[in-house]
Amino acid sequence: MLPLLGQVADSVSRAIAHVHPELAGADPVVRRSEHADFQSNAALALAKRARTKPPELAQALTAALADDRGPATHVEVSGPGFVNITVPDQLLWNQVAARLANSRLGMGTPNEGQRTVIDYSAPNIAKEMHVGHLRTTIIGDSLARVLGFLGSEVIRQNHLGDWGTQFGMLIQYLDEHPELTWHHDELERGASAVSALDELYKTARAAFDDDLEFADRSRDRVVALQSGDPDTIARWKEIVSESEKAFRDIYDRLGVLLTPEDSVGESFYNHLLTDVITELTEAGIAVESEGALVIFSEEVTGPDGNPAPLMVRKREGGYGYDTTDLATIRYRIHDLKANRLLYVTDSRQALHFQMIFEAARRAGWLTDGIEAAHVPYGTVLGPDGRPFKTRSGGTVRLMDLLDDAVSRARAVVSEKNPDLAADALDQIAEQAGIGAVKYADLSSSRVKDYVFDVERMVSFNGNTGVYLQYAHTRIRSILRKAGDPEASIDPTIELQPAERALALELDAYSTALSEVSSTLEPLKLCGYLYDLARDFTTFYEACPVLSADEPVRSNRLALCQLTARTLQHGLDLLGISAPERM
Ligand code: ARG
Repeated sequence: MLPLLGQVADSVSRAIAHVHPELAGADPVVRRSEHADFQSNAALALAKRARTKPPELAQALTAALADDRGPATHVEVSGPGFVNITVPDQLLWNQVAARLANSRLGMGTPNEGQRTVIDYSAPNIAKEMHVGHLRTTIIGDSLARVLGFLGSEVIRQNHLGDWGTQFGMLIQYLDEHPELTWHHDELERGASAVSALDELYKTARAAFDDDLEFADRSRDRVVALQSGDPDTIARWKEIVSESEKAFRDIYDRLGVLLTPEDSVGESFYNHLLTDVITELTEAGIAVESEGALVIFSEEVTGPDGNPAPLMVRKREGGYGYDTTDLATIRYRIHDLKANRLLYVTDSRQALHFQMIFEAARRAGWLTDGIEAAHVPYGTVLGPDGRPFKTRSGGTVRLMDLLDDAVSRARAVVSEKNPDLAADALDQIAEQAGIGAVKYADLSSSRVKDYVFDVERMVSFNGNTGVYLQYAHTRIRSILRKAGDPEASIDPTIELQPAERALALELDAYSTALSEVSSTLEPLKLCGYLYDLARDFTTFYEACPVLSADEPVRSNRLALCQLTARTLQHGLDLLGISAPERM
């Protein structure tokens, strides 16, 4: 179902083609307006090409629109050549009714035919997941939901850092110290295997630096691991699976879509590396340089002013992050047959991906019909405005951070609603606290750094997840009081200004979602939901619902219903739950 904005844009396009056939297909430049329902700026944009003045072109378009059988009822020229367009009340009511009657709120699947790989979360095995991984997990998950809803076939890929020389060292150390405990079932409740391993890795590292013989044994272990020695591989698998358990706890708590099947870590590409290297070498893209095999970029220069290299094979023969990502992009294009590749990682990896995409283009893997994009994000800052760390300078444990948000959410919720039963409060506090953390992340401009301020995140005021969840509960409460009736709309009733603003906003939901898809900024959806909640508040202050006479009452209840459903749906696409009460 086309939103009114789209219908109006189509009719302006027809008007343009009618008045100036040579301009057919030009952008009708239609947007919402303060002075009418919509406004077209096409006359200003096109006057020169039409060899006329904007007011004259606007006049001609207005006349053509009046003859068009499109949605506009009232059209007038304003200012230097804006065309103001108003649509009939009946049409607005019909849109509301049609959306309410549809399980997808009348939204289509414009992304059909897109097969999209979203690379997100990707924590590192045997290392604590840090706040940076929180961002990729939250942003990637919301993109997976929005693009999936719009009809993309989404393939989630959790590119775990599960391969590399550090595992040789760790495995050797664990082998020589069988007394050490790190399996989650041997640890105290609440402790995670990853934090234990993270600590042990640091000890192993110190031993490696101090003890030459241990260093030699560790190097042998790396060789054993890479050549598939069964005992070493068994040890490595144990470490991977214990770490994954700890990641899973975070994923469960966050309620993200990632499943164990989505884990396709760096190790998966090991068997593909030689083929990829042969292909790149034969094509003359990868070249020898000082004993290593590299790809010199034609776009990126290093700090010394020379072309920056991707390291395909290190001097001592090892393969690293660059090699794996080359094999990964080839696999995603050739085997997964994706035509949209998204990589959600922090912005410091921008050049890495620029060079990977460049190499993939030169190799002929990444062709014109395929979009590859790095989806970068900024740093999470602490209250002091510096990268978020614990007081002692360590990584902040994600579980502690989520616990903190939930306990603060519990405090604000129970203050607002002291009558909640204990178990209801537990559940709502969890939904509010987790939702608050997610919303704070998603509603800030993606590439900007933001300050992790739990107090602000769980506030009932301002642009917060809790505010939106609360707005939803208020509408649900109105609907419960009315007995949750079937929607019934009388489209002949005249719209009040606040009703009209709300109806127009409700109709614009799909536009907000398409913007998320094109800009990869979940912020566009957050901003939309916040505006919608505020339009609802204005409507509710101006237009009594329960005390109104029929048929006005039913019409207003329908607006309440569609607002509640849109809020709930939008929050769900952000990965945030919408409780019935709070
Ligand atoms: N494990 C990496 C990190 O923690 C992120 C991996 C991102 N994905 C990729 N294909 N390189 O920084």
